[in-house]
Parts: sequence; C-alpha cells; structure tokens
Amino acid sequence: MPKKTVRDVDLKGKRVLCRVDFNVPIKGGKIGDETRIRESLPTLRYILEQHGTRLILMSHLGRPKDKPEPEYSLKPVAQRLAELLGRPVAMAPDCVGEAVEAQAKALAAGEVLLLENVRFHKAETENSAEFAAKLARLGDIYVNDAFGSAHRAHASTEGVAHHLPAVAGFLMEKEIKFLGGVFENPQKPFVAIIGGAKVSTKIAVLESLLPRVDSLIIGGGMAYTFLKVEGIAVGKSLVEEDHLDTALSLLAEAKKQKVKILLPLDHQVGAEFKETAKAEYVAGTAIPAERIGMDVGEKTLAACRELIAAAGTVVWNGPLGVFEFPEFAKGTLEVARMVAACKGTTVVGGGDSVAAVQKFGLASKISHVSTGGGASLELLEGKALPGIVALADK
Ligand code: 3PG
Repeated sequence: MPKKTVRDVDLKGKRVLCRVDFNVPIKGGKIGDETRIRESLPTLRYILEQHGTRLILMSHLGRPKDKPEPEYSLKPVAQRLAELLGRPVAMAPDCVGEAVEAQAKALAAGEVLLLENVRFHKAETENSAEFAAKLARLGDIYVNDAFGSAHRAHASTEGVAHHLPAVAGFLMEKEIKFLGGVFENPQKPFVAIIGGAKVSTKIAVLESLLPRVDSLIIGGGMAYTFLKVEGIAVGKSLVEEDHLDTALSLLAEAKKQKVKILLPLDHQVGAEFKETAKAEYVAGTAIPAERIGMDVGEKTLAACRELIAAAGTVVWNGPLGVFEFPEFAKGTLEVARMVAACKGTTVVGGGDSVAAVQKFGLASKISHVSTGGGASLELLEGKALPGIVALADK
C-alpha cells in the first residue's frame, strides 16, 4: 500500500517532528561520509518552504549504552546541517523533557531544532509508548525520512507514529520506490548480484529474489560455500559448513525457477587472509589446497559483463571480493563499473556495496544508491519494515 508523503498533507504553520537517519561516521568531531545528511535535504527544504513551519529533527547516532555519551552527540551534525541548509540549526540538550518541550514551542517560523541522540534513552530502542508520547509532544505532525532505520521498531521510528499524523519524507519515498519497486514490474532481463562474506546473512534475500530474477550472480566469500556443494575444491576459502544444505536447496530452487546462476569461474587467491597477501590468479574453478579465494577473476568478470550490459534491471548487494584489500578489490570495482554503465534501472543497497560505489566515485551513475544497510537488505527480502508500516496509507 503506497504511503502518504509530505506532499499529501498541509504543513502550513505546523511544528513538524521529522525523524532522519543522521547515523553518520564521526571521528574526533569530524564527519566522514555525509551522504545521509545530504540525502535528507530535499525533505527538510520542502518542509521549511511551507509557510510558517518549524522543524524539529531527531535521529540516533551509533549505539551508545542507553545513556548520554559525548562521543555520540549529534552536535557536529547540527553544525554541518546549518551550513548545508544555509540557516542556523539549534541543538537541544536532550530529546525529551520540559526544557526541550519549551525549546520546541518557542521556535519561530522557519527555525530548526535538532534533538540530541534519541538512543541516550533506553526507552527509545525498547519502543516505550510513554517515551514515544513524550517525543510526540514536540510536534503537530510526524515525518519519517529515516529509511536507514526503518527496519527498527523503535520509539522515534515506529512508536511516535501512533501519536501523530504520520507521513513519509522524499528519501523514504525514493527508497521504497526503487528497492520495493524492483519487485513490481522490473524491466527484464532482471539481474541480481549478491556478494558478501556469508551465505547465512543472504539466505532470505536470495530466496526472495529467486522467483523474480532471470540471472543471479553470486560472488564474495559466500560463493565458496556454493562451489563446495557443486563438488569444486575451494582450498582454505571461507565455507559455512552448516549452510551447505541451504546452498544446495537454493541451487535446486534456481534450477526449478529456470534462473541462470553465475558462480565464480576463476579466482584471485591469497596464501593468508591479510591485506599484505599477494594476489595469485587461478584460471579454473578449483582452488589449490593451501589458498584462500579472495576475489573473482577475469573470466568471471567477462561473464558478469555480458549479463549486466544486457540487463533491464540490476540489483546489487554485497562486494564480489575482499575489496577493502587493494590486491583483491578489482572484481568489486569492475562490477561497480559495469553496473554504472548499464542502461537499465540499477539499484545498489547494503553497506559494503554502497561503500564500494562511493569509494570508486560511481554513485552518480547508478539509478539509486540506498542510504540503508540492514533496511535495504530487509526490503529486498520482501519484509515489511516497521517504520514504513506505521505511516499513513494513501
Ligand atoms: C544503519 O546505519 O544501518 C542505521 O542507521 C541503523 O543503525 P543500527 O543498526 O544501529 O540500528
């Protein structure tokens, strides 16, 4: 069911309580990747353009232990946001309580207040109804633009929606459109690329994608569990012994659904799982006994290129090799380039593959790069996310 957005409600003169995902990397008070802050700007600007609105923002940052911890303060974000919005952003000392309520009430039209980290209170992650009601006292209407946290049923992402009219922001709308939308009428051929270290974390997404895709490219550490069940030698590569049966049944299901599965055809291997390991090329599928598979090889990449170039829709989640080690980054880099060059709709979700396209400077060439890690995976798994479910239907 489509959700109401900020466009569907009258915001004029309202105090708008907006949940954003400002969970950005901060080291020594300096913000690293600020994509999540930038991606929230269209919603924030739209709210502020409506006559007489006051904007109260809330977010979590990191995983503090249920009490105020200065290194998890959102203060650096308030400063950066003020620069990006081109107007002052006041910082609240907390996210609930009388002083904060007074501060929110005193806001004049066009003013912005950022509440302190909601996870400084245990009640946030417990989704306490009382705490959600306290948050709700700060606004007249609730806007959720925190897609990255939509899989969390917390007070600021879910509970508060039961106390105020609740609608989606533009980022939330865009994420649902692309990540949820790949399931509704995807342009064919539909190619999914699933990588990452472990099969166990990708079972649900593979099960959800198999009935929908034409081809499935499996790479990264998880590929060796699949190769092993195919009877191929994998040396000392990562294998999840307790998921061999899962891999077997996924391969059987793919056959039944007539989905083409592409597993690595050749490899870059190393003698040890270390950044200093030298890449050695293995031209066949079998990996020598003392070696660890750490990236795909040229033959695999050529087969990927053929599938991705012809795709109408591509969904990519998870790197193809150990891309954080430069010797083993090529497979992921090349696939990122192929996805960027594809003329179809391309969607990249999941922390590591998103980090890869950003690291390689290719994000602007992808139809949609998700701001969610766990949330994008769960949406691709076909799960209902509590932060989305709680919003008003159109
Ligand atoms: C994320 O970075 O994936 C979101 O901000 C959610 O953070 P969390 O995993 O700590 O809930």
